[in-house]
Amino acid sequence: MSINVGLEGIVVAETALSMVDGETGRLVIAGEEVGHLAGRHSFDVVFRRLMAAAGAPVPGSLTLGQARQRAHALLPRCEEALRAPVGMDALRSCLSLLPDSDETALVGAAAVFTAAWWRATRVLPPIAPDPALEHAADLHRMLTGRRDGAAASALDTYLTTVVDHGMNASTFTARVVASTGSDRTSAVVAALGALKGPLHGGAPGPVLDMLDAVGTVDNAETWVQGELAAGRRIMGMGHRVYRVRDPRAAVLERAVRAFTTARANPVGTDLGMSPLPNVPIVAPSPDFQRVELALAVEGAAQRALAARHPDRPLRANVEFFTAVLLDAIGIDRALFSPLFACSRAAGWCAHVAEQRANGRLIRPRARYVGQDGANVAM
Ligand code: COA
Repeated sequence: MSINVGLEGIVVAETALSMVDGETGRLVIAGEEVGHLAGRHSFDVVFRRLMAAAGAPVPGSLTLGQARQRAHALLPRCEEALRAPVGMDALRSCLSLLPDSDETALVGAAAVFTAAWWRATRVLPPIAPDPALEHAADLHRMLTGRRDGAAASALDTYLTTVVDHGMNASTFTARVVASTGSDRTSAVVAALGALKGPLHGGAPGPVLDMLDAVGTVDNAETWVQGELAAGRRIMGMGHRVYRVRDPRAAVLERAVRAFTTARANPVGTDLGMSPLPNVPIVAPSPDFQRVELALAVEGAAQRALAARHPDRPLRANVEFFTAVLLDAIGIDRALFSPLFACSRAAGWCAHVAEQRANGRLIRPRARYVGQDGANVAM
């Protein structure tokens, strides 16, 4: 019996949702290159496209805005769950309070619960959704209490960029659960658990810790060498599939540059700022130098990893520039993984629909290496 630990290279399903080409660094989401899609189409549009590609078009009866409103009405039931110190734990508990929900309800609720958790950690009341806004703009507003066009559009680019990515660990988890005939909420909650791990969606926080620890461009080389010598991994570097730089890193790098340029030259740009009567709890980071620091660390890490692993290219992955972008728009690192989940929930739901339509029970096997019961004395 041949064994494939980690299932590397194993194809378990056909999908029309996204195509990841690790050799050339291409990512196509619902038929469009990620570089064209992100920043051009809102997350709301991409969500609908994904569901249509999954053969389960979103019915017009419930918009993401209405779904956010419904979820807001459920917040009194989430009081206990929202006290969790870790955002992913709060999100998991809140989502599991939903009955077998439809896709729109789950995606809308993820944003509301994430924002409510964040505000609860600051002892601030939740902000009611505005269903007229697009999802990213309202999510940013529910987090911060402010309308900020530049930050909302950067967040929208982020949500669109990470919405789906082939058969990654959390998507596979969602499909395994769906393959048993279980409900959609269970699939999403299980996927959330997989996304929480630092080898999957939990890396951007540590990336920021790393940038803090490096401190200056001049220190990048020495710091990276020290980490590798100590046997530690460089967060935000390497990928199971990509053998070149993750194409999403380029999209997010472009977005952070656009955002910092807009912030530095507000005259003539429409930032759409209109403060609400709430305390702004997320302020734009003044440290635009961080992009240059990030590029220096990426370069140093790439060179050092190439020297250690000449046969295995280890380049920046999406988490590297997720950290830089979200930090630039003033999002606290505690929110990084929950925001990833807010977006990826759309991808999970689309995969669940696909799995339900075409899939079979996913049930691999394991090679037994324990004691042979026949030789054990009774
Ligand atoms: N820093 C240092 N070394 C790394 C590394 C990193 N970020 N990523 C991989 N390596 C090394 C491993 O130590 C291993 O070395 P070895 O063969 O001497 O033991 C080799 O490269 C292969 O690593 P492996 O763990 O088999 O690769 P993988 O495909 O299973 O792992 C990741 C992919 C993403 C889990 C891995 O690159 C990683 O841990 N990256 C850091 C965490 C991260 O950024 N996660 C977000 C992913 S989007």
